[in-house]
Amino acid sequence: MDIDAINQTIENEISGIDSSDKLEELRVRYLGRKGVLAELTGSIPQLPKEERGAFGQKVNLLKNKINTLLNEKQKSFASIDVGAPTAGQVDITMPGIAQDLGRLHPLTQLIDEICSIFTGMGFSVVEGPEIESEENNFTGLNIPLEHPSRDAFDTFYLKTKKKLLLRSHTSPVQIRAMKSRKPPLAIVVPGRVYRPDAVDASHSFMFHQIEGFMVDKNIKFSDLKGILEVFAKSVFGEDIKMRFRPHFFPFTEPSAEVDISCIICKGKGCSVCGRKGWLEILGSGMIHPNVFKHVGYDPKIYTGFAFGMGVERIAMLKYGINDIRLFAESDLRFLKQF
Ligand code: DAH
Repeated sequence: MDIDAINQTIENEISGIDSSDKLEELRVRYLGRKGVLAELTGSIPQLPKEERGAFGQKVNLLKNKINTLLNEKQKSFASIDVGAPTAGQVDITMPGIAQDLGRLHPLTQLIDEICSIFTGMGFSVVEGPEIESEENNFTGLNIPLEHPSRDAFDTFYLKTKKKLLLRSHTSPVQIRAMKSRKPPLAIVVPGRVYRPDAVDASHSFMFHQIEGFMVDKNIKFSDLKGILEVFAKSVFGEDIKMRFRPHFFPFTEPSAEVDISCIICKGKGCSVCGRKGWLEILGSGMIHPNVFKHVGYDPKIYTGFAFGMGVERIAMLKYGINDIRLFAESDLRFLKQF
């Protein structure tokens, strides 16, 4: 192999190359471990002593030259203007089409979050049917059919021979669970409920509730308070205040509504809390002896607490959403924010 010959042809050889692959092939042929330059270097010991120095220098110069030429050529490939594509060609300068990832609905996310707070405290998650009997939805829960307390739970009835309805709350699952199990019980029940309300910013004919209840010997109101405090602080933050405000529910006695200090104004009073400084988040109480009698539990032996919350309401307070209809409209601009 003649150094001078290579020196003369290498420039032409490289300038004729039109792809990175061919350029790499040439690099290996000349500069690779078994390439031309390695061969030249390897031949040095065979030369007469006095020629070795000059020859070695020439090889080095050639190596540097080839390296420089290769680098320049490689750069020229990188900066080539691919130009506008002609018909049938792909325009590789176009941005790609990003795939939109799906996600869980904000209510599903919140239901999962709330259920896992309770399962972390030993509760099990149980579900029940959306079509219910009057017995489970009303009478078993100490709501007599002809009693005015039923007005609070106006209901969709089905046109069936046996009187069936769309459950107006998740409380009937208390009856189902207690009829099929023995205490101790600690259960949360997420699910859809239905009420014939006209739709507006804060009402919907279908919404979600999470029911919770615990039954055993010696369950006290203070257990209810402790459990709900853990729940409220993990959903709304450690620095909220809570209060239990006396209320009436047919299925609990005593009953209380639970308020948290307004998360917008921190209790000072604003438009979200109606200047009260407090936001109602759920209903609760100690399970009424009549409910225990209905399911065959002895109210002298067992006590328990129960609570129920509206998931949409919790979500609206937590995220500052001002219209319940957003949850059902499938508007991606809304859904993508969660
Ligand atoms: N079922 C009630 C409702 O829909 C909510 C509720 C209040 C559930 C108090 C309970 C409770 O278990 O103890 O308005």
